[in-house]
Amino acid sequence: QRHLLGIARLQPHEIEQLIDLAEAEVAVSRRRDKKKSTLKGRTQINLFFEASTRTQASFELAGKRLGADVMNMAVANSSVKKGETLIDTAMTLNAMQPDILIVRHHSAGAVALLAQKVACSVVNAGDGAHEHPTQALLDALTIRRHKGRIARLTVTICGDVLHSRVARSNILLLNALGARVRVVAPATLLPSGIESMGVEVYRRMEDGLKDADVVMMLRLQRERMEGSFVPSVREYFRYFGLDAAKLRHARPDALVMHPGPMNRGVEIASEIADGPQSVIEEQVEMGVAVRMAVMSALIGGPEASA
Ligand code: CP
Repeated sequence: QRHLLGIARLQPHEIEQLIDLAEAEVAVSRRRDKKKSTLKGRTQINLFFEASTRTQASFELAGKRLGADVMNMAVANSSVKKGETLIDTAMTLNAMQPDILIVRHHSAGAVALLAQKVACSVVNAGDGAHEHPTQALLDALTIRRHKGRIARLTVTICGDVLHSRVARSNILLLNALGARVRVVAPATLLPSGIESMGVEVYRRMEDGLKDADVVMMLRLQRERMEGSFVPSVREYFRYFGLDAAKLRHARPDALVMHPGPMNRGVEIASEIADGPQSVIEEQVEMGVAVRMAVMSALIGGPEASA
């Protein structure tokens, strides 16, 4: 494939291939000399219309470790501020002959639209509440490194599912690889018809966490709740925040995950985020490996003859 726009567009064997490729890149990132030449001479542009720490930094590091020339577009100081549209911005960058654009945008579908207009590969680094495919891939890699497989694991995704592109991409990926997926959320933070995505829905953490192998917490995305119901932090933490008492319902060896950024004391207690079952920092490390794998797969092959 030329682009990575969402997990929904990948076959299970393509997902497995990317995770296998990423596994090999973990060792590269742990070497003293982290430099490869897979993308030597290639140009990568990171175009983030929404804030990011993990995704942008890891795509930049991944590109540099693969030998690409990497440019971070400073959207806040760009002509976007003068009213230039997404497509005009993308076409302007396209005219500079990049090989790959990494794009985050606040509107679902915006990255796919942009991909239709440009000549290079495009990776979706998060589009609205739609998809965040590299997050799901790095989560799967993290799980597989601990549990040895994805198939037949019980994975419980908890919290603000309604606004979460991370939840959506993870549900698609985990189902594709044969996991049993549960979601736990208040009714106001669940998309209608979520059951049709092949998940079991729970309203109580204690029920949804029972015997889970993996607990994925989601950030309460208050910035996306303008004009709708916003739960109070105290109440939310009491019923849907992961603390030691709730975590005891999962398996004793359950992994605790969070894509970040975390709201400590809102969706997760600090003692759990920093506790022995947490793999949250490892998720960040896997993010670099996964992004190296994705970019190698998309543009790392031999150049087509003219
Ligand atoms: N998980 C994630 O996408 O984090 P950032 O918003 O910091 O990139």
